[in-house]
Amino acid sequence: MPERWTPDSWRGKPIVQVPEYPDAAKLAETEARLASFPPLVFAGEARNLKRSLARVAAGEAFLLQGGDCAESFEDHSANSIRDFFRLFLQMAVVLTFAGASPVVKVGRIAGQFAKPRSSNTEKRGGVELPSYRGDVVNGAEFTAAARIPDPQRLIEAYHQSAATLNLLRAFAHGGYASLGRVHQWMLGFVKDARQLERYRDLADRISETLAFMQACGLDLESHPELRGTDVYTSHEALLLGFEQAMTRQDSTTGDWYCTSGHMIWIGDRTRQPDHAHVEYFRGVKNPIGLKCGPSLKADELIRLTDILNPENEPGRLTLINRFGADKVGDHLPALVRAVKREGRAVVWSCDPMHGNTITAESGYKTRPFDRILQEVKTFFSVHASEGTHAGGVHLEMTGKDVTECTGGARAITDEDLNDRYHTLCDPRLNAEQAIELAFLLAERLKVERAAKATPLQAAAGL
Ligand code: PEP
Ligand code: CO
Repeated sequence: MPERWTPDSWRGKPIVQVPEYPDAAKLAETEARLASFPPLVFAGEARNLKRSLARVAAGEAFLLQGGDCAESFEDHSANSIRDFFRLFLQMAVVLTFAGASPVVKVGRIAGQFAKPRSSNTEKRGGVELPSYRGDVVNGAEFTAAARIPDPQRLIEAYHQSAATLNLLRAFAHGGYASLGRVHQWMLGFVKDARQLERYRDLADRISETLAFMQACGLDLESHPELRGTDVYTSHEALLLGFEQAMTRQDSTTGDWYCTSGHMIWIGDRTRQPDHAHVEYFRGVKNPIGLKCGPSLKADELIRLTDILNPENEPGRLTLINRFGADKVGDHLPALVRAVKREGRAVVWSCDPMHGNTITAESGYKTRPFDRILQEVKTFFSVHASEGTHAGGVHLEMTGKDVTECTGGARAITDEDLNDRYHTLCDPRLNAEQAIELAFLLAERLKVERAAKATPLQAAAGL
């Protein structure tokens, strides 16, 4: 029998990656205030997402999850949310149309503020300060004052998340996401001729299809799925005090939900089975993610699935693999086989970012686009050989025209990184790189579908 779970039972367990707040009383007071604020998302929405993810687990849909490594207080504007949203829509439409697969859209947004760090301190020119842990904890500026964790930041993160969600909901259901606008989603700064042409061509074909359906007598306006879309939010639930304050009991089912985002995930550094993060996650009913890095062994993964999804509910658990292009081929098959052997229903998603980070000669942290593509390709090949569904991707990306990852169609070099390197934490794909990746994913999805099709369907091109 597992021990009784309560929203604060994690407090009795060992924990890593917690900031040291100098004023514990102020932290407690702030968490109590947060607990009185309205929820950011609703239990019913989290359940809808879980249902959609269950379709992914069954091989019938694809998960697109992505956004900033770390959201920023300073860069919070309607334009950056819109630019992210439209890039996300573009990618989703490429996958849905070219890849012929329904797409579940989950942003790393409206709450993705807290960062785990590999080192507690950062050294620059002989000065050592506490590491930056995300805007919800302390400031990125390299001064002793900025690096002191400040509970007031929890309140700011809450309000920023609320405003972001409000705009996302308006974009998703207020007409902007209508498929009839597929041509208008192109970002002005995407200059790469090949990506532009490929996307325009696809948008033309969608417009033609819509016109054809209308000519056949279908009233497009009466179909909500063509007029809008569902976009969900997610973040790494690292700051358990904040998450506990946002944990609410659903009045219709009596179940507990984490209401700071639709989906939350456990980072690769905080997935110890007997620690606080796993304890917190096991008790909330949201769909959850688990980052799986190279140190995760198959038996430990099965143990974690037992704890986190004891009823083996499809859509509850997404395994987000982040091995690195050179390691995924060695590590993934054993995990896939164990999960299959034990009959666990999971979504397999590929994070091709976190295992492929290198430091360029210029000193910038970067990710070569080739390696990102390579990890995705190997992820698809492993699933093709194991007979499992390559269910999704988890990306760090932005709608802004940044130069943070090297390579891609515009061949960003080490020297270019300095031009527009804006991330607060890890390097993100820019819009062109993200669209290029979406087209590659669409091709792979088509291959996966073709391999599964019956000879009759294949002959009919279905
Ligand atoms: C992240 O997703 O930003 C992250 C820190 O990932 P991981 O836990 O996989 O290292
Ligand atoms: Co990151």
